[in-house]
Amino acid sequence: MRTRFTEAFGVEHPIVQGGMMWVGRAELVAAVANAGALGFITALTQPTPEDLVREIARTRELTDKPFGVNLTILPSITPPPYAEYRQAIIESGIKIVETAGSNPVDHLPFFKDAGIKVIHKCTSVRHAVKAERVGVDAVSIDGFECAGHPGEDDVPGLVLIPAATRRLQIPVIASGGIADARGLVAALALGADGVNMGTRFMCTVESPVAHAVKEQIVANSELDTKLIFRTLHNTARVAANAVSAEVVEIESRGAEFKDIQHLVAGARGRKVFEDGDLDAGIWTAGQCQGLIDDIPTVADLVERMVTEAESIIAGRLTSFLDDAAVRA
Ligand SMILES: Cc1cc2nc3c(=O)[nH]c(=O)nc-3n(C[C@H](O)[C@H](O)[C@H](O)COP(=O)(O)O)c2cc1C
Repeated sequence: MRTRFTEAFGVEHPIVQGGMMWVGRAELVAAVANAGALGFITALTQPTPEDLVREIARTRELTDKPFGVNLTILPSITPPPYAEYRQAIIESGIKIVETAGSNPVDHLPFFKDAGIKVIHKCTSVRHAVKAERVGVDAVSIDGFECAGHPGEDDVPGLVLIPAATRRLQIPVIASGGIADARGLVAALALGADGVNMGTRFMCTVESPVAHAVKEQIVANSELDTKLIFRTLHNTARVAANAVSAEVVEIESRGAEFKDIQHLVAGARGRKVFEDGDLDAGIWTAGQCQGLIDDIPTVADLVERMVTEAESIIAGRLTSFLDDAAVRA
């Protein structure tokens, strides 16, 4: 399947594995690259910029195909050294970056000077338009279904993607709620040039999270997420568990961040992924859990998505056309 995205970014398939805190590490990213899709190492999962350099080198030992680095820029009381992470990306010779969280304008000139293509991930048409204006090469747009931060507008992909593609000239990657070939074909029909997946890639053999997490994703339905931080206007979609239920309950009583801080600490979420203790903390997952029934290798997942997408297009969709339209 060739799209403007595969052409511009030099990847075989129009499928992206977006940055994922604690999950976007060498093993997964290399497997995605080897499968002909585009994977992103998550910069901030590495404790220091030097560790990021080492993780990039480790990924290169596992693949000779292109891959990128995600730089998530979030407001923080003690911000990580973004400029140093950026420099580590540039000096490592990375050629594709996924930015997310806030406007990438401060970082863009540095990436551009280094010949790096930037995909900015955002959650609204207005932010996508702004990103195009400041010079990013593509945008990834997360609908309300997505894992992680869906923004505050609550517009699902079925509306958000075509609302964006009709306004933008650059390639658009549809993100959020996509877990199989049907999602890929739907995204292309909505005008996107590819898809970005998080939860689906987290539930693969090569994903570096505990097996119990993957089994829980398979067991979960589309109903098994919670929206936390709504009252703080920093909404995050996470898996339903005892901790996310408690956070929502405390928020409903009009809490401040300090009242829930002990529950949402990153170290607790990390414990879920490392130890498989599903109620140790908050862990990110999207509504598309309801579409996930297995734990395939990344190669099998990508291969099956592409093959099934081609057969949906050539079979089911073409069957709706009459003979004259097919010949045309
Ligand atoms: C465990 C997990 C951690 C994530 N962490 C980040 C992150 O650090 N930065 C980021 O830009 N997106 C992050 N995301 C969002 C994904 O890159 C992607 O946009 C999202 O998962 C798409 O929705 P889906 O899960 O329905 O496919 C994360 C997603 C998951 C599942």
